[in-house]
Amino acid sequence: MIVGAAAVLSLAVGGSIACTPQFGQRDLTLIFDKNLGGTTTAFSAGSNAFELSARNLTNEERRRFEVGDSFFTQNWVTAPASTEARDGLGPTFNAQSCSSCHSRDGRAKPPEHDGDPERGLLLRLSVPGPDGPVDEPLYGDQLQDRAINGVQPEGRIGITYETIHGSYPDGTPYSLQKPIYAILDPAYGGVAADVMISPRIAQTIVGMGLLEAIPEARIRALADPADSDGDGISGRVNMVRDLRRGEVVPGRFGWKANQPSVEQQAAGAFHGDIGITTTLFPTENCPEGQTACSLAPDGGSPEAPDDRLLKVAFYVQTLAVPAMRNVEDPTVQRGAGLFVDVGCSSCHVPRHTTDNAHSLAPLRGQTIYPYTDLLLHDMGPGLADGRPDGLASGSEWRTPPLWGIGLVKVVNGHTRFLHDGRARGLEEAILWHGGEGQASRDRFLQLSMEDRMALLKFLESL
Ligand code: HEC
Ligand code: HEC
Repeated sequence: MIVGAAAVLSLAVGGSIACTPQFGQRDLTLIFDKNLGGTTTAFSAGSNAFELSARNLTNEERRRFEVGDSFFTQNWVTAPASTEARDGLGPTFNAQSCSSCHSRDGRAKPPEHDGDPERGLLLRLSVPGPDGPVDEPLYGDQLQDRAINGVQPEGRIGITYETIHGSYPDGTPYSLQKPIYAILDPAYGGVAADVMISPRIAQTIVGMGLLEAIPEARIRALADPADSDGDGISGRVNMVRDLRRGEVVPGRFGWKANQPSVEQQAAGAFHGDIGITTTLFPTENCPEGQTACSLAPDGGSPEAPDDRLLKVAFYVQTLAVPAMRNVEDPTVQRGAGLFVDVGCSSCHVPRHTTDNAHSLAPLRGQTIYPYTDLLLHDMGPGLADGRPDGLASGSEWRTPPLWGIGLVKVVNGHTRFLHDGRARGLEEAILWHGGEGQASRDRFLQLSMEDRMALLKFLESL
């Protein structure tokens, strides 16, 4: 049913602007603009498309960006080392640098076989506790599959796939791959029988500062936890602790919006993924019983001082969003209209304006098109990991931004999407939508092949 199109659009962009559901009459600037990141937008559709700095940085800011870039890319090494500024790796870890997972600031794909050097898939762990989930007792909250010399890696990720077959109403067949995860070779004793595993793939990190600059009031206004407008889509804010501010604030980053700021996301990655302590996470990640881990020398306390953490955060905050391509193409424009008509824009909210008083001047007052509401949605049992995270349930996920999604293939050489990279292309990503996304997915299925292709072409232009 397309009756809701006008309503969907006005809900999505919060405007009182009159618009009609007919293509040709609608205001396309509510759905896209070539400058997806406002005046920060960069113009490259090549393999460096995610690596450029916001176009409106001052020279001084650009230098800061470059220093942050070097810390993002450099490999950390085992302590003690002559290169004191970057020792302290591990004791257990998943990767030696930010960029080994976010290659070219883009996204990772799941490992294809044992020994695949791909590092960007993590397993988050927990077990049920009396007042909500707690860390797995022997392995903590994340499986670290590597370690420095003399310390045992915690284990390895095992993935097997089950194939699901289906077909479109027009008879076109499709198949989906459902991954099943296991922890292989656990080095510190049996993994708890009631362990909850959440697989997460490294995301593209363009435009993070702009997402951070969306006013909190805007996010709260989009939330509809009780679905009071009856459109089948609720949308909840994840509330998480901001360690720097000492307050509970809306989560914005990560697949379940469990991090409130770029700085804390980066500090969490230093700690959990690389084994580098910061003032936000000052204690090495060595669960009780991992003795060699606890006894290993550290690289100072903290291993990455605030100045360095903030430079890495600044780098990530000011990575430019690449410009949209093919904006004049009538098929792309039709696809944009269909994106609204089938209800994608109810969650992938096209347009926002960033805070005029934001701390980083280049990010203030920008009209941006990230295609997210930063809210949690129940996406049904097919995508559920069964592991709650803050207020997010085991089947809720944050709507991921879609800007840059059409360039993943050029930058990272693959088209693996969704929280664990299970979808082998954009179309499969849509087909996996269930729960609150089911109605929209079903409307997509009912489109003609030509319309489906137009919608996909729109996504590929982002
Ligand atoms: C071992 C792989 C790995 C490493 C190393 C890593 N990341 Fe990530 N990154 C991820 C994964 C996986 C996620 C999603 C996390 C989640 O959902 O909880 C993520 C998410 C993020 C996000 C949020 C993206 C979004 O859309 O919300 C940012 C920002 C980020 N990482 C920055 C960094 C920085 C900075 C570093 C280095 C300090 C780093 N990452 C190191 C794997 C990695
Ligand atoms: C109910 C809210 C909702 C609706 C409606 C919705 N999505 Fe999503 N979408 C999500 C969430 C949440 C995810 C992340 C799910 C996951 O990774 O398990 C997602 C993931 C995606 C992804 C993969 C993104 C990535 O970074 O891997 C694409 C592409 C996508 N959606 C496109 C669409 C399109 C096209 C439509 C309309 C046919 C649509 N979505 C409708 C919430 C929604």
